[in-house]
Amino acid sequence: MPAIRKRQRTASSTRRRRVPRDTADRATQLREEIRRHDEHYYVENRPAISDDAYDRLVAELRRIEARHPDLVTPDSPTRRVAGRVAGAFASVRHAAPMLSLEATRAPADVAAFVRRMSGPGGDSDLVLEPKLDGLSVEVAYTNGKLVAASTRGDGIEGEDVLANVRTIRSVPSSLRAGRNGAPRFLSIRGEMLMPRSAFTRMNRELAARGDEGFANPRNAAAGSLRQLDPAVTASRPLRYVAYEVLDSRGADWSSERDVLGDLRRWGFSVPERVTFARTLDQVERYHRGIAGLRDGLDYEVDGIVIKGCSLAVRERLGSTSHHPRWALAYKFEARGETTTVEDIVFQVGRTGVLTPVALLRPVDVGGVTVARATLHNLDELHRRDVQIGDSVRVHRAGDVIPEIVERRRGAHRRAPSIPRRCPGCRAALTRDGPFLRCTNRWQCPSQLVAAIVHLASDDAFCIQGLGGEVAQRLVDASLVRRLPDLFTVGASEFRTLPGFAARSAAKLAESIARARRIELPAFLVALGIPGVGKASARALGDAYPTLDALVGASAEEIASVPNIGAIQAAAIHEYLGDRRTRALIDGFLRAGVRIEPVHAERKRGPLAGKRIAFTGTLPTLSRAEASRLAEDAGAQITESVSEKLDYLVVGRDPGSKRANAERAGVRIIDEKRFRQLLTRAV
Ligand code: IVH
Repeated sequence: MPAIRKRQRTASSTRRRRVPRDTADRATQLREEIRRHDEHYYVENRPAISDDAYDRLVAELRRIEARHPDLVTPDSPTRRVAGRVAGAFASVRHAAPMLSLEATRAPADVAAFVRRMSGPGGDSDLVLEPKLDGLSVEVAYTNGKLVAASTRGDGIEGEDVLANVRTIRSVPSSLRAGRNGAPRFLSIRGEMLMPRSAFTRMNRELAARGDEGFANPRNAAAGSLRQLDPAVTASRPLRYVAYEVLDSRGADWSSERDVLGDLRRWGFSVPERVTFARTLDQVERYHRGIAGLRDGLDYEVDGIVIKGCSLAVRERLGSTSHHPRWALAYKFEARGETTTVEDIVFQVGRTGVLTPVALLRPVDVGGVTVARATLHNLDELHRRDVQIGDSVRVHRAGDVIPEIVERRRGAHRRAPSIPRRCPGCRAALTRDGPFLRCTNRWQCPSQLVAAIVHLASDDAFCIQGLGGEVAQRLVDASLVRRLPDLFTVGASEFRTLPGFAARSAAKLAESIARARRIELPAFLVALGIPGVGKASARALGDAYPTLDALVGASAEEIASVPNIGAIQAAAIHEYLGDRRTRALIDGFLRAGVRIEPVHAERKRGPLAGKRIAFTGTLPTLSRAEASRLAEDAGAQITESVSEKLDYLVVGRDPGSKRANAERAGVRIIDEKRFRQLLTRAV
C-alpha cells in the first residue's frame, strides 16, 4: 500500500557551491513568474502561457535548485508536488512509478514502433485506445477496498486526493467480485475527466452564481479534484476511466485484453472504442477514425495510445526512466494555425536580457491576430532550430502569449544572425547561461524602453496608454532619458510625439499625474529590483511602513520578512544600497512621486471597509484603473457577488453578476456614482 511520506529537503546534505548572483536572481524571477502563472491558471482559470511553456519554467527552476540547493526556498513551487497545486495535500508515494508516455505526431515514429512491436522480442498484438485528455490518477485497493488515490505529481509521488476521490461515483469504493474475486492488492491508473457537456453546464452554473468558470474541461477536472472540501468535488461532474494496472498482488493476467475485461467486471469504466490491431495500416486507420470522431465525443481526446497487448512482452521490453518501451502516444495535430517566420529579432528586456522573438506572417488564431512568438532564449532557439523562412504552427491557450508548437523547415531557410552587440545601444553582450545580456545596465535605450513599459504596468505605477510603442517614441524623442523624466513631461511635450493628438497627449499626461501617488509595494515593483515581483513587494511593503525604513534595513533584517529568502534579501539590500538606485529613487521623489505606506489610505479612505465588484465595460475607466481607484479609496475588490457585497459597479454589457446582485439586494451603481463615492469627504 502506498505510504504517506513527507518530502525531505536535501539542501543540508549537499555540498555548498558558490551561487552566482545572476543565477540567484533567475531563480527568484522564475519563482515569481511561476507563481504568477499559477494564479492565472488556478485562481483566474485563465492560463497565460501554454502548459509546455509552464513546464519549461518549472524545469529550469528545478535545474537551478538541483545545482544550488542553497537557493531552495521552503515555498518554492518545486516543493509542491504536481506543479500547480491549489491547496496543501499530503504527498503519497505511488505503488509503482507513474511513467509518462512517449508521444509523437510523426507517422515515421509510429511505423518504427509498430515494426518493433511486431518483430522478434516484441511479438505482440497491439491494443489501440483513445488518448484521454484529463489528468492521470492512481487508485489503489487492498482486499477489494479503496484505500488510496493520488494525482500523478512527479510520477513517484503525487497528492493524496483520497477523500475527494471517494466522492466520485465512477471510482468503485469496493470492487465487485471479478472472475477470481478481487486481488489482495490492486493499483489502477486511469484518467480523471470532466465530460464536455457537463463542463459547459457547470460553467454556466458557476457564472450564474457570479463565479468564474474554468478555461477547459481538463482544468475543470484538475481544479475540481484538488478541492480542499470533498463536498465541492462531490458536486462536480467528474468521471474516472481506468486503463492500466499499475501494480497488483494476487492477480494473474497474460494480456491487456484480460485486464480490461477484469477492470470492467470490477466496476470501472474503461476507454470506449478500444481496438486490437497488428499492422501499421490498422493503426493509421484507427488514428484517422478517432480524429474524425474527435469533435463529436463528449470528452477531450488528443490522440491515440498504441500499446503492446501481451504482458510478457511488456515485461521483456521494460521502460526507460521516463516511459515504457511498449507504448506510444500518437497525437493529433495541435489545434492552431500555420504561418511563416518572417524574421527573428532580439528584443532587449529591462534587465538587459536579449530574448529572441519570431516575427510571423500575421495569422488569425482563434479570433486573435498573432504576429510574434517568443523563442525564450538562445538555448531554446537552437534546440527548436527555428529559422527565418520556416513554417511554424502557433498555438494559443486562452488569453495567451503565442507559442510555436511545431516547425517545418522552409526550403530557403536562413539562420538568424546572433547579435554580437546590443541592438539598442551597441554595447558588448555577455553570455549568461542560456541568455545573452547587454552589459550597459544603466544607459541602454532599449532597456529604458522596457523599463518604462514595466514601470507603467498594472502592478507598478499602472499608467494606462503607455505601452511599448509610446515608450519607444518617448525615448527616441529624448523626452525620457531616465525613468523619473516620465513624471516631468507635460501634455504639450507629448503632443510633439509622432501620432499624438491633443486629446491623447492630455489623456496620457493625466494618467501619469494620477499615478504619482503610489503605494510602496507598487513602487518596489516599478523599481525593477531583480527578482522582486508583486508577491515579494507586497511582503516587503507589509513589513516596512516606508521606503526609508526598507532602505535602512540590513540584509538579515530583510531576510526575516516572511516569504523573502536570504539570497533574495541580500540582492534587495544590495540593489537598494546601490548609488544608482539611490539616484533613481531621488529622481522619482524630485519629480513629484509620492510613495505611500500600504494601509495609510485604505484604513480611512472614503470606501474603507467596503466591498466592490465590477461588471461590464465602464465608459471611461479601464478595469485596472477602476480597481486601483477603488483600492486606493480603501475598498476591497471582489470577483463574486454575494449579500456581503456593498456595491456592484455596472458598465456596458454587464455579465450575470448584475442579475445576481439584484437578487442579493446589492446596490448597483454606474461609473458616475462610483466616482462620486471616491471623492466623498471622509
Ligand atoms: S497508458 C506509461 N492509456 O496520457 C503510461 N495513458 O500524455 C501508460 N493517457 O500520462 C499510460 N489516455 O495519463 C494510457 N488510454 C490511455 C491514456 C493515457 C490518456 C494519459 C496518461 C499519460 C498521458 C500522456
